Formats: sequence, C-alpha cells, structure tokens
Amino acid sequence: MPKDLRVATGPAALRGKPITLRLDGRAIRAFEGETVGAALHAAGERVLMRSIKYHRPRGLFCCTGKCAGCLMRVDGTPNVRACVTPAHDGMVVETQNAFPSARRDLFAVVDKAYPRVLDVHEQLARAPLLRPIHHAIVRRMAGFGKLPDLKPVPPRRPAIRPLEADVLVAGGGPSGLAAALAAAEAGARVALVDEGDRVGGSLLLTSDDEGRHGAARAEETLQRLRAAGATVLPRSVVFGLYGTDGHGDALPAPGLAAILTPERILECSPRTVIVASGAHETPPLFPGNDLPGVMGARAALILLHRHGVLAGERILVSGESAWRRAAADDLAKAGAEIVSAPGARVAEARGGRRVESVALSKGEETWSEEVDCVLAAGNETPRVELVQQAGGRLVAQGWALAPEGERAAPRVFACGSVLGPATLAERLAQGARVGREAAR
Ligand code: FES
Repeated sequence: MPKDLRVATGPAALRGKPITLRLDGRAIRAFEGETVGAALHAAGERVLMRSIKYHRPRGLFCCTGKCAGCLMRVDGTPNVRACVTPAHDGMVVETQNAFPSARRDLFAVVDKAYPRVLDVHEQLARAPLLRPIHHAIVRRMAGFGKLPDLKPVPPRRPAIRPLEADVLVAGGGPSGLAAALAAAEAGARVALVDEGDRVGGSLLLTSDDEGRHGAARAEETLQRLRAAGATVLPRSVVFGLYGTDGHGDALPAPGLAAILTPERILECSPRTVIVASGAHETPPLFPGNDLPGVMGARAALILLHRHGVLAGERILVSGESAWRRAAADDLAKAGAEIVSAPGARVAEARGGRRVESVALSKGEETWSEEVDCVLAAGNETPRVELVQQAGGRLVAQGWALAPEGERAAPRVFACGSVLGPATLAERLAQGARVGREAAR
C-alpha cells in the first residue's frame, strides 16, 4: 500500500470534506478542493495514462493542463486533464487507451517489441489482404480513448457579450497583476483575464524577498484592483486576437480580443493589450524523461502549495532556474528527502512504471541514486500565441521563441515569463512599468 503523500502544512489546514473517487473500479480517498490529479498522486497512483502509440506510462508533469500527460476518462467524458479537474464525491475516473488498465497495460509490449520505431504505414505495405486487419488492430491499440457515454447535445451558438476595457491584460501571474494594477491606478479601465480558479499564477507558489507569501500579495493586489474598478475574470482565457472583422476588413490595432469564460464568450476592443501569459514547463532532455515521477519543479510546488501533497518522498531537483531552490527548500520543509548532487548532470531516469533511480554524472564520475521523483527546473516555453496573432516579432531564446521586447506589436505589450526567465522582483517591476505605459 503506497504511503499517502499529503502533508499537514499550508493548504492542509484548508482541506475540504473527505470524498471518494473510483479509479478503474477501485475506491480512492480524496478531499474536496483537490484536483483529480492531486488526489491520485497523493494516493500513490503515478500512471494516469499511456502514450498513444508505444503505450509508455505517463503521469503528472506540469499540473497546469499543458503537457497532456494526465488525460483520463472522467464521468464518461474522455481526455479530461486530471491535473486541472476538481474532484467530487462519487466521481468515476478511468484510465483509457490501455488493456486492462494503464497500471498494467498488456499493449505496452509494443514499446518492447519496437525499441527504435514502429511505422504502421510501411508495415505489411505489400500484403493487401492483411493490411486492413493490421490497421484495425493498430486503431484499437492507439488513439485517445472512446467517445463519450453521453448523448451528443446539438451544438448551440454560445452567448457572446461585449466587454468594455481600455487595457486588457491576458494572464494574472506576478507581472500581469502588477501591470493591471499600475494601469488601473493610472486611471484606465482594466480587464484582467486568468485561466486559474485562483488568480495569481506562480505568485501563489512563492514568497517575495521580504518573506511575504505570494498568495497574500495576490489577494491584496486583487482587492486594490477591484477598488480601482477593474474587471477580474478567473477561469477564463483570451483565446484569440483578431486583426480583421467578419468581412475581412482590418480593425484598428490591437484588434478584437475573444475571451472564453465558464459562462460565455466575451468580445473586447481594448485600446491596448498586455500579454502576460507566462511560460509552461517542458520535459528535460535525458533518457527516461517521460517516466511518471519526472516532473516540472513548478508542478511540484503546485501540488505542495495548492493541495498539501508531496511530489515524492526522496527527490532529486535538477536544473538551473530559481525554481530549483524554491522547490528543494519548500519540499524539504514539508518533509521530503532532497537528494543533494551539486554540479551533477542527470544522465538518465530509470524505472518501470515510475522513476526508481536516477543516473548522475559530474566530470568523469558517474553514480546513481534511488529516488521516486526527479524535478526539472528551468525548462520553460513562453506562451507567445497572442503576440504572434498580433503580428509581433519573435526571437529565438534557447529552445523557445519569445516576443521581441516589451512593446511586442502595435498597441500590444508583453511582460513577465513570456519574455524569458526573470526573478520575481524583475517580473513585478516589469509588469508595473508596462502597465503604466499601456495606460498612457
Ligand atoms: S496536462 Fe496534466 S500534468 Fe500536464
């Protein structure tokens, strides 16, 4: 029986009522307020799905809905992202695309049988009678689950409402909040849009240089924003910035912004847009980087600070960004054992259905450590889609593209992690500067 990874610090005090989920028919204890992913992770369930072709085990990696490592069938709906889906009592959760379950998937033999590549287009290309049978088997084994149990609902045109704002801020992390506040306090009508159920982004995972927890800072900023008359839209996303109208005629910059909220679609023609969409974590580059238990450092902080759940019991934290120190310190304080390997490089993560050990190297020296979790800090991809849609120029930064500078396109500004790595103090200062300029 795996150890429950919930700890009695921070959010534990706020833990909701006990509830029960069913995972592939088994009862799993959870608490109101937890996501499905956090509840399963706490209960020691690491394999949440299988990759579509080779049936390799997959588990939580980003905890922000961006990596597709946690797609599950939830209450009859396939491909639900477990890491951002709130759990409820009696919820039926099933692993998909596996036989008989993702934990023990017989189809995983494909990964062993084809260690290099499985090209279904070439296989049996010269056997016209066998080919259709082969393709039918491959279709059964691959893919993304089965269609929903529910009867299809006829498509409805969603209600579209206008939203009035001078400055539209996309993203409510540290820089987005700072930008929105500066613009609102300079007299602009501000709308702040954030996809989280709690606005604050990575601010909710940190303490600032004066030791104040980011959640308190986010709450105080939201209060000031509301007092200044700003509109705050949580659980919402700016999904498009359109330069032309429905007839193809050009709109004045920055164009029409489309916002999806839980209830409706809003359309907004702001005078300026501030893109503070941040960055999402991407897997580190070493063999075994897709094993359940290899996670982003920020993902581990989300589990800890939002749910009071440890990412693992014995953890190696790799990478170079400031999140490395934050993850190591906070997880150690919460009771995890942190493996110290200064200056070492992760050569490989090893294990069967989850990480069991990690191979390390430093110069000529190589060794391995038993761990159940490897955290990667600093592999981040800026979320530049809105800047691209606005016609902004992007420049290469390592593996990623980022907007070129704070004034990313006509009447479109960018700030925060979307521009590349920066300290919290730098992101706050940059947001405030951009907010003031956008309001002007
Ligand atoms: S999408 Fe759920 S862990 Fe990344």
